[in-house]
Amino acid sequence: MPATVIVGTQWGDEGKGKVVDLLAADADVVVRFHGGNNAGHTLVVNGEKTVLNLVPAGVLHPGRICVLGPGVVIDPEVLVGEIEGLRARGYLAEDRWFRISAQAHLIMPYHRAIDRARERLRGAGSIGTTGRGIGPAYEDKMARSGIRVGDLFDEVGFRAALERNVREKNAYLQALLGEAPLAFDAILERYTTYRERLRGFVADTGAELRAALAAGRRVLLEGAQGMMLDVDHGTYPFVTSSTCVSGAAAAGAGLPPRALGAVVGIAKAYTTRVGGGPFPTELTDALGERLRADGDEYGATTGRPRRCGWFDAVVVRQAVELSGVDRIALTKLDVLTGIDPLRICTGYELGGRRIDGPPTTERAWEQVTPRYEEVPGWREPLGGARALDELPLNARRYVERLESLSGAPIRLVSVGAQRDQTIRRGEIL
Ligand code: GDP
Ligand code: IMO
Ligand code: MG
Repeated sequence: MPATVIVGTQWGDEGKGKVVDLLAADADVVVRFHGGNNAGHTLVVNGEKTVLNLVPAGVLHPGRICVLGPGVVIDPEVLVGEIEGLRARGYLAEDRWFRISAQAHLIMPYHRAIDRARERLRGAGSIGTTGRGIGPAYEDKMARSGIRVGDLFDEVGFRAALERNVREKNAYLQALLGEAPLAFDAILERYTTYRERLRGFVADTGAELRAALAAGRRVLLEGAQGMMLDVDHGTYPFVTSSTCVSGAAAAGAGLPPRALGAVVGIAKAYTTRVGGGPFPTELTDALGERLRADGDEYGATTGRPRRCGWFDAVVVRQAVELSGVDRIALTKLDVLTGIDPLRICTGYELGGRRIDGPPTTERAWEQVTPRYEEVPGWREPLGGARALDELPLNARRYVERLESLSGAPIRLVSVGAQRDQTIRRGEIL
């Protein structure tokens, strides 16, 4: 059976963590294939909340193999902390349940320093990155000067690469960013401790994954961020530094494209975005604040308030096309209770004319205005519904309208953060 890919269709935080955790009940392996600890995936199981930044969202199911593929960038300090936190709660009981690609690149302290310093210097035009060093780590990977997980185990090679990089980054930090230099010895010492902490997990994860698929194991590929944060297809330059569409899943996990099967797109019943950049349906008024409060829209990673707005069908439809989404999981429908009427963005206008898809330049993104359709809302709380016909009629109609505008069937509707606050609507895996 081919692997199922799960991707975000908006600007991230769509509820990928909740859905992956839910679907992991019927899977054997869950793989992250891009991004790093800029991601924050929240799981709520039996009332207990878990936020995962790196470890895949299958981890609360004992025995699932969780994998960080070669496309991921790994901050070992964060990873070690996350593993220990999970172990203290009884998860990841066996080493073989967690695998880390030797080819994944390491996030180093100078990546974080550069990320934060650049953001400071950008001032009002900052991207609003998570400050985790993601962009600078991917830069070094592409520049072929990065240090990979496997390099940790070659003491002489690691030292030489670190020396070279610290020298170069310190020159850059001091001369161009006005920052203090970092101490080589302290980094070497710290990363030496990570070597021993991570040793038992490091593997050729691509080979293991291909073998698992050949043996009939069920594999989920867990995307991070969302289509609009994709470095090519998103609202560049207000994007992350990796490819977030499903096309990246094969390479980032170490699989051939034909190993991929269904693509599940996660869409929130409204829209949020953290950080800077265009957001046509943003609500900057009391209604936006209400969505933030009712949806608890604060960053799982950074705690920053998320910007909130109406559902944007232009964005989700683009994600459906680009990622080949063939089923949608709609989340946070419950948050819309009490907002009447609701608005749905069905298209954009640019210079007074309707445009078909999202724009492709930064300038056009700044200028588009959304076209809305108004639909009636509902007053009843939805958190207790477990079947579609338990939803108020207007909520059902809203789901149906989003489905027809998005271009893929909505197979799952989430009505609360808890694992069981979920309505199934046909096959999703
Ligand atoms: P991710 O990054 O896509 O995994 O999403 P986040 O975890 O960053 O943000 C989604 C937030 O919404 C988390 O706090 C979830 O616990 C919560 N959540 C997920 N699904 C639902 C839902 O259907 N209703 C409500 N009210 N909260 C949800
Ligand atoms: P999950 O997986 C929401 C945003 C940042 C910033 C931009 C670039 O939880 O959906 P970066 O640190 O990646 O260089 O920041 O991307 N961003 C996210 N927004 N959810 C995420 O992940 C995000 N990961 C990055 O806020 O605007
Ligand atoms: Mg998140």
